[in-house]
Amino acid sequence: MREFSEDYLERTREGMWDDSRRALEPLALGSRERVLDVGCGTGELSRVLAAESAGEVVGCDADPALLERAREHVPVVAGDALRLPFPDDAFDLVVCQALLINLPDPEAAIREFARVSSDLVAAVEPDNGAVAVDSSVPSEERLEDRARRAYLEGVGTDVALGADACDAFDEAGLEVLETRRYDHERTIEPPYGDAALTIAQRKATGAGLADDRETMLEGEMSGEEYDALRSEWRSMGRDVIEQMEDRSYRRREEIPFFVTVGRA
Ligand SMILES: C[S@@+](CC[C@H](N)C(=O)[O-])C[C@H]1O[C@@H](n2cnc3c(N)ncnc32)[C@H](O)[C@@H]1O
Repeated sequence: MREFSEDYLERTREGMWDDSRRALEPLALGSRERVLDVGCGTGELSRVLAAESAGEVVGCDADPALLERAREHVPVVAGDALRLPFPDDAFDLVVCQALLINLPDPEAAIREFARVSSDLVAAVEPDNGAVAVDSSVPSEERLEDRARRAYLEGVGTDVALGADACDAFDEAGLEVLETRRYDHERTIEPPYGDAALTIAQRKATGAGLADDRETMLEGEMSGEEYDALRSEWRSMGRDVIEQMEDRSYRRREEIPFFVTVGRA
């Protein structure tokens, strides 16, 4: 199972769903009685669901450390998405966010969601192949694109699932009701917060890139190509920090997420 740190999840979800929740409308949260958020991690989606629904929201994840954090927002239960510890029809909505992209067999998980839902099943999944970056450091967009492509080639699951989640719903035997797009926009601009400073430091030290080294080398990238990328990457990170020092650094990233809703 791919593991995620608390820090990574909170950093990458910051501001998500704060600007608009229109893409969540097909989940009919206002009329749900029991909602399950599978692969809830630190509960970033769970707390949005709890805010929008009068019903009970329960978080479920296989990682007990992340559940400790999610517990601050909603009641939680430890469990595997492929063998949920709930009886048939225990919820009227089962939803996940950025879970299917991490599973080798997303259809199996969707079938399991359908088993425990008496009505709706939904997935909020990004297309990590279509992320757009705009930065005041000229090399940042090109280097991030290079790193992203190398990661996509090496990773063993479909991290660009996005809008194609509806095909997985189809294959799992669910009726797809609707797919809506939500662009999660992340901006860094002065005054810079702690998260922005951490991101910049991780660029300058190469730590962020190193996290994905093994995955990149699983694809077509050679060790020499990785080392060359790392050297350019660290230099780009130093440029980011330099621009931050004179408050001229600006970065905007748009990650397309697709909300697919089906009937169990
Ligand atoms: C990218 S994170 C998404 C977390 C959260 N939904 C969010 O959007 O912030 C994926 C989550 O799925 C969990 N996960 C991965 N495989 C799982 C499995 N088989 N069963 C339950 N949880 C799983 C991980 O522990 C992690 O918390």
